[in-house]
Amino acid sequence: MSTSNGCTECNKAKSGLNRRNFLNMLGWGSISAFFVGLGGVNLRFLIPNRVGPSKNAFVAGRLEDFSQKVTYITGRRAFIVRDDNGIRALSAVCTHLGCTVNWIPENDRIECPCHGSIFDEETGAVLRGPATRPLEWYKVTVMNNGQLLVDPDDPVDSSYVLPV
Ligand code: FES
Repeated sequence: MSTSNGCTECNKAKSGLNRRNFLNMLGWGSISAFFVGLGGVNLRFLIPNRVGPSKNAFVAGRLEDFSQKVTYITGRRAFIVRDDNGIRALSAVCTHLGCTVNWIPENDRIECPCHGSIFDEETGAVLRGPATRPLEWYKVTVMNNGQLLVDPDDPVDSSYVLPV
């Protein structure tokens, strides 16, 4: 039986050709996507991992500026902690909900004004909740010009110390 244009075989051939073209395009598209993805992964290996301080690293000041036990770095939400072993950098961001904590010298500890968490200034450990995680320690180094460089993107263990 013939169709409206009178050529059933032509319509079948046309339909088969469209399906074939579609499958060809789908196949080549998949292969192309695979190789583009593979190329992207390989390009990532050509880019070196970060070496040196991150873009969030900041200069805290000169070494001699930190003679006190704990010094708050204004605008950086961090403390420089000094003891007999050397210098360390401690986050001033409460691990509960992110308020800025305060060093309270009279109590010899760090306290959060928001919900009352208390931290030890020597270890960053939680002395009282609701915070459950200790304050973070940041890597601190001395630059060639004698300035301290603190890197919040480079957390270190609480035992890390920069000998001075
Ligand atoms: S934000 Fe510090 S105790 Fe809640």
